[in-house]
Amino acid sequence: MKSALIIGSQGTIGTALVDHLQGAYLVTEINQSNCSYQEEELEAYASKFAETVGFDLIICCIGALHNERIAPEKRLRDLKADVLQEYFRINVVLPALCLRYFAPRLKKQDQASVYISLSAMVGSIGENALGGWYGYRSSKAGLNMLLKTASRELRHSHRNSAILAVHPGTTKGDLSLPYAGRVDPKKYYSPKQTAERIVSIAKSVTAQDSGKFLNWDGREIAW
Ligand SMILES: NC(=O)c1ccc[n+]([C@@H]2O[C@H](COP(=O)([O-])OP(=O)(O)OC[C@H]3O[C@@H](n4cnc5c(N)ncnc54)[C@H](OP(=O)(O)O)[C@@H]3O)[C@@H](O)[C@H]2O)c1
Repeated sequence: MKSALIIGSQGTIGTALVDHLQGAYLVTEINQSNCSYQEEELEAYASKFAETVGFDLIICCIGALHNERIAPEKRLRDLKADVLQEYFRINVVLPALCLRYFAPRLKKQDQASVYISLSAMVGSIGENALGGWYGYRSSKAGLNMLLKTASRELRHSHRNSAILAVHPGTTKGDLSLPYAGRVDPKKYYSPKQTAERIVSIAKSVTAQDSGKFLNWDGREIAW
């Protein structure tokens, strides 16, 4: 049976991914209830999975747009150092540590093994028409660069693996709820739809796609 690792498995999309994959994959979950996401703990967790076993699919869902300490900034004068640090800690540092410890656990095999980190369309510098959301946008852009850079390194050690940044689409749940009124209902997706689309991307890509930033429908997004 194929094996999948879902990191951030307690959130809206993480939970839907676990539900969708169960049965077809042997699913391992990492979340704040079983892991502190501290470096030592991630390292210990990763070392449990011998390199020879490995994962066919790893999806990191960690990310935040708002919580009790952060909210999207509208203007330059809203920028605050502690808020920016929190955006970068959750959207860049934690996914980077997961990448560091778990990407080497992708299976080395003929069939592509895939690492997806959930990014966001608003992290695209090329498609930033509206402005605003400084911390979230720039942290997701930082995440994208980490993924692209890792894709370059792993093409040597993991020739048949793909490392991808994926925009999941605006998905009904806590993260998007405060902005739901502004979303076109036709473009506001259920967690189930989103999970199916992410897994469909994972099944369709090859190592040649490694280092891409993909929309939920497979379209390439400008960096
Ligand atoms: N929902 C959308 O419309 C949408 C749109 C574009 C991009 N995205 C991206 O897709 C990903 C998943 O979104 P979602 O809707 O499932 O969000 P969510 O329900 O808020 O889940 C986010 C996950 O991030 C982890 N997390 C959040 N704050 C954390 C913190 N302070 N420390 C450690 N872990 C933390 C949590 O992991 P645990 O499971 O360990 O608790 C949680 O499961 C995020 O990266 C988000 O930026 C979502």
